[in-house]
Amino acid sequence: MSSTQVLSKRAGGGHDEGPTQADFWNNDVQHFLGWIWVAFVGVFFLYQVIFHFVRYIRTIACLNNEHQRYFATPHSLYAWFKKHCLDAPLFRTRHHRDMKLSSAINIGTLPSRMQTFLLVGYFSTNVGFCFWSIDFNQKYNTVADEFRNRTGIMAVINMIPLFLLAGRNNPIIKLTGISFDTMNLIHRWFGRITVLEAVAHTAAWIAGKVHKAGWIAVTKAFTSSPFIITGLIGTCAFVFLLLHSPSPVRHAYYEVFLHMHIFAAAVAVGGVWWHLKLKMMDHLYMMYGVVALWAFERAYRFVRIVMRNVGNGGTQADIEVLPGDALRITVRMARPWAFRPGQHAYLYMPSIGLWTNHPFSMAWSEEEEDVNVQSMMADEKGLPMNRQDILEANKTSMSFIVRRRTGFTEKLYKKADLSAAGKFSTTAFVEGPYGGENLSSYGTVMLWAAGIGITHQVPHVRDLVASYANGTTATRRLTLVWIIQSPEHLEWIRPWMTQILAMPRRREILKVLLFVTRPRSTKEIHSPSSSVQMFPGKPNVQSLIDQEMQEGIGAACVSVCGTGSLADDLRRAVRNRETDWNVDFREESFSW
Ligand SMILES: Cc1cc2nc3c(=O)[nH]c(=O)nc-3n(C[C@H](O)[C@H](O)[C@H](O)COP(=O)(O)OP(=O)(O)OC[C@H]3O[C@@H](n4cnc5c(N)ncnc54)[C@H](O)[C@@H]3O)c2cc1C
Ligand SMILES: *[C@@H]1O[C@H](CO)[C@@H](O)[C@H](O)[C@H]1NC(C)=O
Repeated sequence: MSSTQVLSKRAGGGHDEGPTQADFWNNDVQHFLGWIWVAFVGVFFLYQVIFHFVRYIRTIACLNNEHQRYFATPHSLYAWFKKHCLDAPLFRTRHHRDMKLSSAINIGTLPSRMQTFLLVGYFSTNVGFCFWSIDFNQKYNTVADEFRNRTGIMAVINMIPLFLLAGRNNPIIKLTGISFDTMNLIHRWFGRITVLEAVAHTAAWIAGKVHKAGWIAVTKAFTSSPFIITGLIGTCAFVFLLLHSPSPVRHAYYEVFLHMHIFAAAVAVGGVWWHLKLKMMDHLYMMYGVVALWAFERAYRFVRIVMRNVGNGGTQADIEVLPGDALRITVRMARPWAFRPGQHAYLYMPSIGLWTNHPFSMAWSEEEEDVNVQSMMADEKGLPMNRQDILEANKTSMSFIVRRRTGFTEKLYKKADLSAAGKFSTTAFVEGPYGGENLSSYGTVMLWAAGIGITHQVPHVRDLVASYANGTTATRRLTLVWIIQSPEHLEWIRPWMTQILAMPRRREILKVLLFVTRPRSTKEIHSPSSSVQMFPGKPNVQSLIDQEMQEGIGAACVSVCGTGSLADDLRRAVRNRETDWNVDFREESFSW
């Protein structure tokens, strides 16, 4: 629909004689904002594509270990950019460590320098657009009307990215390579901007009305005009959304937060939709976009769950208690599932958590032969099976290690603890996979984990050792640093570690460093071999990084999954060396 078509139907300003100059400007603002989004996505997409090629070429060039040295030195300009923008925290060190008012109340984390820069930029652009080309020398009521229309339009158009970025399956994640974690941050700030604009819109209407006809007219409209009532409902729902979503509330009662959030968002959409439908039909198309994005995301999730979990006897989960307040969940998927390192999935267990779902990193996967199906099929046909049959007869089993918290995971733990032998089975649905990363272009890979964060790193270890043995990776040096509170946490991954340590040629590449921060006695600390070493206390982050820099080969990657303070310490240690060493820093956090 062209802008003139839109405007000729009915202008938004309540002028019956057709579009005014102010309406054209309102339309321009929508287009500018749209182009800003496109440009933003475009830049990040390009960045992704370039880096995809860089990594591809690096992998190929380093497969036989010849050209590693070339990739070990950083490009000075890019290194500067990484050190001071891309990887930098807002101020000196703090980024993912929670800021605390007291030991119980944390008020969230600080965005990084680059994130802050972009968010402040977008915020200012919005403020600018709310005032752009409005002439403040006009009559009071004209100014109020123009400002009211402008802020209303800005609020509605911002709802499109707001709803798009809220979804787990939003296509922008794939296009730009920005993580869901960061998408969540952007979603929160777009939300705050939308709410402020909606409030400004309402305030401008009230100001104009009071000026013209007094407060009586305002209260009258609040009770008798459907147009005003629906608008008011929308604004109230928005303000509620703003007030109930700060970090302390969100983290304290995540499930309650999520349900109320979805409900209030639906009320807001309903209110705004109706409000536009009553008098602003030509702006309603933006709401079609909002609702379509939401519906599409939900439908896509549903289809994926059905495809993965329904049929073939469904997906079954075995839940087993482990020492150190943890559980091992092994799911046997209804359908085969190709698994990549660094991925996570959402688990549904209706018998424990009804429709709620929780994200967990996939720590291990195995292809199991379903013996029953195979013998059954062989009997029926008496013929050897073809490839397709074998694929169907195989079942993927995937394992998660889950730390006990206070909601769903607590219920699950209690149920398993009370069951015979500390284990039970139930029907589950697995939604995913999400995320995933490939580290095979780095000569040196250093994986850090604290506590349960190990679930994110184990698949990388297995994958890199296997691809080293078969010659499909540039990696020549792999170090896993795991910080745990007590040696009993080793139980969590013992069977998998045993398998990894027995893999061919693993001694040539893998080194494991275990740090036990609260050993009960020094007897518990012993190093099984020179490639698996155990130490009491905390690691010296900078000296381990420096050692890796001296002894490492080629381009390096430092990846961390664990507590916010470990991530912050590592980030600082890596940034200190970024100008002399071609190192990438990656982090995965288990909360949002
Ligand atoms: C990408 C990702 C991977 C994860 N991988 C693992 C893993 O491998 N092992 C593991 O033990 N934990 C993992 N977690 C954390 C795990 O999701 C939470 O511990 C779990 O959801 C807590 O459930 P609960 O009801 O017992 O939580 P509560 O005790 O009610 O809350 C504890 C914390 O968990 C968070 N949380 C609760 N529900 C959700 C939810 N539905 N979605 C997101 N966060 C939620 C809240 O922010 C809250 O602060 C991961 C989280 C993310 C985001
Ligand atoms: C080598 O190992 C990796 C990791 O397990 C695997 O993905 C890949 O398919 C293997 N390649 C060959 C040629 O065997």
